[in-house]
Amino acid sequence: MPSRVVVGLQWGDEGKGRVIDSLAGEADIVVRYQGGANAGHTVWVDSKRYVFHLIPSGILHPETTCIMGGGMVVDLQALLDEIDGLNDRGINTQGHLFLSPRAHLVLPQHKGSEGLWEKRIGTTLKGIGPAYAQKYARLGVRVGDLYQEGLEEKLRLSLAEEDIQGLAQRLQEQGERIRPYIRDVEPLLNRALQEGKSLLFEGAQGTLLDIDQGTYPFVTSSHTTAGGACVGTGVGPTKIDEVIGVTKSYATRVGNGPFPTELGDELGELLQRDGEEYGATTGRPRRCGWLDLVALRYACQVNGVQRVALTKLDVLDRVPRIKLCVAYLYKGERIEEFPLSLDHCEPVYEELPGWENPTKGTRDFGKLPQKARDYIKRIVDYIGVKICWAFTGPRREDVVEMG
Ligand code: IMP
Repeated sequence: MPSRVVVGLQWGDEGKGRVIDSLAGEADIVVRYQGGANAGHTVWVDSKRYVFHLIPSGILHPETTCIMGGGMVVDLQALLDEIDGLNDRGINTQGHLFLSPRAHLVLPQHKGSEGLWEKRIGTTLKGIGPAYAQKYARLGVRVGDLYQEGLEEKLRLSLAEEDIQGLAQRLQEQGERIRPYIRDVEPLLNRALQEGKSLLFEGAQGTLLDIDQGTYPFVTSSHTTAGGACVGTGVGPTKIDEVIGVTKSYATRVGNGPFPTELGDELGELLQRDGEEYGATTGRPRRCGWLDLVALRYACQVNGVQRVALTKLDVLDRVPRIKLCVAYLYKGERIEEFPLSLDHCEPVYEELPGWENPTKGTRDFGKLPQKARDYIKRIVDYIGVKICWAFTGPRREDVVEMG
């Protein structure tokens, strides 16, 4: 049985949640490996909308085990709220959701300490940057510390908080509530692999937000790329069989930072409206633009992507002419490799006619308008990786499978 990683190939919000949801039925275990409650994965089932921030999207499949790996940063209150929310809607979490004691805590102080610089980046204000900064300064507090002696000393080392005792007590109370979910996930995952079980690693955010490979400093603080699946869970790289990348049919970005193909006109507004481009975590409107093939090919390379899922094809149904960015002009020079910085990169476009016909709900490649098929083909030719799914609507069944 294969072990797969699903990663976002843009700036997050590519629709990974639904790709995960459609593959989770074949997986025994779904694993989150990085990030925290900054993520917002939306899944629609039977006209019901579910948004996950910390819990893997696989939780909707009752037979699937869901793991939150040690590479994550966890806000205990957010986790408890998410568990309660699911339980209230009749979805069981006990016995098939597990959290690594190696994951670091996002403390209330982390959320409060996102200041001017983070505002410039346009973060989700979920305390992600400060929590990872403390982890890498080796002053972090881990989930497992809640159940050991010396929690107060650890907190005192890392925080300038006055009421350490009160904080420790609150954390320990929350820790008691999540105790049934704590499990050493590294042996669990490696045993599962030995038994031939199938693992699905669920990336959060996207490649261009990776701390190393992304558009630094306008990035998140974790390894969003496929390599993060190994470091964030204790599963070795030789155990990963496949990397699947997810991209929208156009591009979006929330938060600040350069975005060469951004549309500042009514076309951008059309994509925002038809694509319902509002952040699942923060409700912020997403900046919208044309698909950037230079960035997409780079994202496929740095993740070693073998198959691509293209989402929201139907959102382009009303666009009369569609552009694809095939190079950048930087100080008058044409470049086709993804640069160190996107600052001052002007997009060079290729223009294709739009199909101007509804594709919503189409499930058959042959039933897609020829121009939509040409659009897909041009993307494949440029990036050199096949597109195996094109999503044509929000329902589970709105997908064209292309093998
Ligand atoms: P942080 O992860 O909250 O520190 O935010 C850093 C950058 O990543 C900001 O530009 C955020 O808007 C962006 N970001 C973080 N999580 C997501 C996500 O799940 N989707 C899209 N953008 C995200």
